[in-house]
Order: sequence, then structure tokens, then C-alpha cells
Amino acid sequence: MTDKGLIRIAILGFGTVGAGVYQLVQRQKEELEAKTGRSAEVAKVLVRDASKPREGIDASVLTDSFKEILGDPSIDIVVEVMGGIEPARTYITQALQAGKNVVTANKDLMATHGGELLALAKEMGKDLLFEAAVAGGIPIIRPMKQCLAGNHMTQVMGIVNGTTNYILTKMAQEGMEFDEALAKATELGYAEADPTADIEAYDAGRKLAILASLAFHSRVTFSDVYTEGITKITAADIRYAREMGSVIKLLAIARETAEGIEAGVQPMLISQSHPMAAVNDVFNAVFIHGDAVDDVMFYGRGAGRFPTASACMGDVVDIMRNIQYGCTGRIGCGCYRQLPIKPMADTEQKYFFRLRCADRPGVLAAISSVMGRMGVSIKQMVQKPTENDTVAELVLITDSVKEASFMEALEEIKGLDVVYEVASMIRVHE
Ligand code: NAP
Ligand code: HSE
Repeated sequence: MTDKGLIRIAILGFGTVGAGVYQLVQRQKEELEAKTGRSAEVAKVLVRDASKPREGIDASVLTDSFKEILGDPSIDIVVEVMGGIEPARTYITQALQAGKNVVTANKDLMATHGGELLALAKEMGKDLLFEAAVAGGIPIIRPMKQCLAGNHMTQVMGIVNGTTNYILTKMAQEGMEFDEALAKATELGYAEADPTADIEAYDAGRKLAILASLAFHSRVTFSDVYTEGITKITAADIRYAREMGSVIKLLAIARETAEGIEAGVQPMLISQSHPMAAVNDVFNAVFIHGDAVDDVMFYGRGAGRFPTASACMGDVVDIMRNIQYGCTGRIGCGCYRQLPIKPMADTEQKYFFRLRCADRPGVLAAISSVMGRMGVSIKQMVQKPTENDTVAELVLITDSVKEASFMEALEEIKGLDVVYEVASMIRVHE
């Protein structure tokens, strides 16, 4: 192998994922050559503070200057694992403009600026690959772009946030309350330092924007995705869901409909018999429907050093092969359609809701009269006693109905003098 055969890599970031990518390049050294026909080395690793002592890395490759990487024409591949929008967006833009190929794990960036970055990669004839941006170690971007290319995909559904899935699993299986389960997820390093993006479903919303763009070949950005977190879910909701044959999961769902793309992430009841109901702890899964393949499900670790580095390295190997055969930029942005986004108010589903109300004759009639007027039909109802003889708890599931009609009915029900509280409202997956 001559030096001409050597592919040089720069890693932007040496945190959880960056350190994993660095180690995998060392671990795979011999095999990379056999797999791609080219050898590889990490030439530079960008960090904020290059003087800070770090374990497991040759200090001479550390730098705090991106210009050093940008100005080095021998660097062929830049792996961005810093996170955040800026300076990641600028660095990726400049790297592509300088003729480098890019791998990124950055869902925040790809969910908002993916279109512009992929267009630039195409213009430059370079690869911009982002397998790690959705569901960590689970191969999903490449299967959607390549293996499922013979399908018209109409639905993609995912459990794509490990932290929230861990919390909901602990609440369901060990009866933990939300705060206790979140503290445990933080202690185990699953949750981000600021867990807002996890528990408010922004992280899953970003991943869904990317998945929906791939599935329907039409650009969906984070701002197009309805998001609702899991902070209001209680142990009581989980218990009632179980009694009704369901579990509660934070589901990211996108569908192509005649009126446009529906895209939302929210806690939902899902039947215990659905394969997604068995996805527990920090695991992720993505469930896709295509017209040819029917249903297909991908399952695995959605976060963590080596699962995420595994996805990044798959991209690096792909680029090394493309460089070897002179075909970078072969598979770029797949968005060749422009579909509208369907407003959440126009979507249709079933709803689970719990009411605390007066326990006396005429209460059910008052509630069902509002629902009847709004065209909301009741599919299932259970009345539960409470600690107070004059107060009843009603747990209801509706038939499928338009969101706007259900919300209007719920507002009216809240205003009835016999209804003391709407304790919860959770959508139901069918
Ligand atoms: P992390 O542990 O916080 O590491 C970030 C690294 O980037 C640090 O080494 C930091 O340098 C460096 N960095 C940040 N801003 C920088 C700047 N302006 N200039 C130079 N260096 C900078 O992050 P991570 O968990 O590895 O995540 C990296 C990316 O992977 C994110 O986009 C994340 O969303 C994505 N991702 C992560 C996971 C996961 O399980 N962690 C899973 C899927 C995707 P210092 O060390 O000097 O502070
Ligand atoms: N905090 C994220 C999760 C990390 O819990 O899934 C992976 O994106």
C-alpha cells in the first residue's frame, strides 16, 4: 500500500461518540484495508481545549483550530460529532466546499439544515452521510435510502429516544414515578445534561423529521413535527392503559396521506400485542410500512459510545469505498417531491382520557351529550371509585375522530360543572 492509498480522517469532537469513532478506526485498521482497498488514519481531532489531558488518544493529533483541518488537503473525510447547530453547520459547509466528504451524527443540524447541506454535497460531488443521526447504532438511513428503494413507503413509526423509553419502562415495570425514573436515566448517562430535549420529545421530533423526509422523499423539518413530551404521564395512566390491554410509549409517527404528511411525536397507548410494545429500556426501534415489503422493523441500541460510533464508522467505510472507486456523491438527497404538511388539527385517531367528576345521576348523560354533539363516539368506558364517595373517576377511549372535534368536545367537557378535572388525555395508536 502506498501513501496514495491512505485515507486521512479528521474527527470534530472527542466526547462520547468522537472517542468511540477514534477507537474504532484504531481497532479496525487491518480490516479497513481489506474491506475497502484503502488504509485509514485519524489525522486530526478537534476539541475546544486541546491542552486538556485526555486518555486513549495520541495528544499530537489534538487541535483546537478547525482551520488546520480545513487547510489540510490530505484530509479526505471529516466526521462531525460535536453536536449543536453552530459552529457545526459552518464547519460542515466549509469542509464540503473544500472538497472533503462528511459524516455527521448531528440530528439537530440535519433536521433543520439537512436540505441545504445535502444540496451543497451534491453540488460538490461529495458524500454527506448521517447514519448515526437517527436511532444511534440501528442501521436505518441506509436501509431506507437503498434496501427499501423499491417501495413506496407510507408510514414510519419509531421509538427513537432511549431516555424516555427507559423512563416509561421503569414506570410500567417497577411502578416508579416520572421524577425517580428520570433521575435514574440521568445517573446511567442516557439523558442529556439538560434532559429537556429528551422528555419534551424535541430529540425524537428531530429524528422523525429526518425519517419522514427519507420515507416520503419530501423535506420535513423539525418545525413541521408536532411534539408532546412525557412529563404529564402518571403511574395511574400506565396502570389504566394496562387494564385496557395497552402500554404507553413515546411514539414518533409519520404518515403519507392524501392531504399531506402527518408527523408527530407524542406519548400514545399501543396494544400490548404490537411489536413496538415490547421495545423496552433504552432500546430504540423503527417500524416501516412499504407497499412491497409490507411491515419491517429495525431494533437495537439508539445511543451510547460504540453503538453510535458503529453507525459513523459504517459511513466512513462507505465513503472509503466510494473514494476508491471514484464515485462519491452517488447517493445524495432523496427529496424529489414537495408534499404539504397536514395540520395536527386535521389528523384522526382515538383518544384515552380520564375525568374526575360528580358521582350522581345525569353526569354520564351530560358528558355523552357533549361528545355526541361533536361527533365523538365512545368505544370503551370504565368507572372507578375514588377515595371520596361523591367523586367518580371515568376512564374513556373514543372511536377514531378528528383532533379538532375531540379537542373542542374536551374543552366543553372541562367546562361542565359536574366535571372537576380532566386528569389526562393520551392519543391511542391503532
Ligand atoms: P459530547 O460528549 O458532548 O462531546 C462533544 C465533543 O465536541 C467534545 O469533545 C467537545 O470538546 C467537542 N466540541 C463541542 N463544541 C465544540 C466546538 N465549538 N469546537 C471544538 N470542539 C467542540 O457529545 P456526544 O454525546 O459525543 O454527541 C456528539 C454528537 O453525536 C451530537 O450531535 C449528538 O446529538 C450525536 N449523537 C450522540 C449520541 C450519544 O449516544 N451520545 C447518539 C446519537 C447521536 P471538549 O471535549 O473540548 O469539550
Ligand atoms: N438522549 C438521546 C436518547 C441520545 O436518549 O435517545 C441519542 O440521541
